[in-house]
Amino acid sequence: MDWSPFEGKRVLITGGLGFIGSNLAHALAGRCAELTLVDSLIPQYGGNLFNISGIEDKVRVNIADVRDSSSMDHLVQGQDFIFNLAGQVSHIDSMLDPFTDLEYNCRSHLSVLEACRKHNPEAKVLYAGTRGQYGKIERLPVDEDHPERPMDINGIHKMAGERYHLLYHRVHGLRTCSLRLTNTYGPRHYMRTSRQGVLSWFIRLALEGREIRLFGGGRQQRDFNYVEDVVEAFLMAAASPDADGQAFNIGSGRATTLREAADLAVRVAGAGRVTEAEFPDDKKKIEIGNYCADTRRAERAFGWRPKTPLEDGVRRTVEFFRAHWRHYWSE
Ligand SMILES: NC(=O)c1ccc[n+]([C@@H]2O[C@H](COP(=O)([O-])OP(=O)(O)OC[C@H]3O[C@@H](n4cnc5c(N)ncnc54)[C@H](O)[C@@H]3O)[C@@H](O)[C@H]2O)c1
Repeated sequence: MDWSPFEGKRVLITGGLGFIGSNLAHALAGRCAELTLVDSLIPQYGGNLFNISGIEDKVRVNIADVRDSSSMDHLVQGQDFIFNLAGQVSHIDSMLDPFTDLEYNCRSHLSVLEACRKHNPEAKVLYAGTRGQYGKIERLPVDEDHPERPMDINGIHKMAGERYHLLYHRVHGLRTCSLRLTNTYGPRHYMRTSRQGVLSWFIRLALEGREIRLFGGGRQQRDFNYVEDVVEAFLMAAASPDADGQAFNIGSGRATTLREAADLAVRVAGAGRVTEAEFPDDKKKIEIGNYCADTRRAERAFGWRPKTPLEDGVRRTVEFFRAHWRHYWSE
């Protein structure tokens, strides 16, 4: 990884106490001139102060809501890179409470972009899009030209968030770019409930010696991507002018069934067991089918490729949570 684009630079991460934001902070800490994390620590989301354990003295933490324009107008000033990772991740929650999802996945981003337009149009702004924007998959692997027909409220709002970013590039000349992430897993993930991240949840169940119940036999394929690879994608896209104004798929490029993922979690943790269950109606209605990302556009534009084999990533995740689980869930 070439760190020179970040040397002497100022970096802001929204959602910086969450899963992906804090892993990005660990990568950047000590490598840029100033690193600021803004997070509102919304209960039930992935924000966790333990996520910055070990780098507390290298980051500035600002507990604020990015929807608050006066905070953002101030915070974006002088930043060279803004990783805009604040958001609401749960698909099910978005269906149960669409207005909250609208606030955190749409209004939040308009607030960040307006602050940049008015006070720092030079900054590079990175957005975290999602595979959920594609909805029901028509062909595999999924490239960026696949139709976008989200199956849930979260997918619609995430798509709108991406469109805002790309519009601000086209109309206002902001240097924005979107990375459409697949299922990301790894250390520092939210683990209190099953609402975020199926593989991390399987890992928790396995570590606790519990039952992993697979809906529909666990035949659905997902593309699991290790968080360090995702962090590297954000950094490489940030450093590349060729990424400006575009959206890129970021995934491992490998399809894995939920059954394979659950079996792997049990094998690596050395505990837990896998069983089958009926598909609950609320989950069935928003099920996207199989997914696997075609990431060649990211490779062409900024040279990113996934590196971490699934088994290595699961092993490192199990080690992290075996050591630190008390900071992520209670018995
Ligand atoms: N984890 C995945 O598998 C995945 C997949 C696709 C896309 N994404 C996107 O990546 C981004 C980061 O996801 P994550 O997995 O790290 O989630 P996370 O819940 O761990 O982190 C999100 C953080 O944003 C903060 N936040 C939310 N709204 C805020 C607001 N208005 N003001 C300030 N802080 C706010 C939360 O407190 C939380 O700490 C999200 O935009 C998500 O949609 C994640």
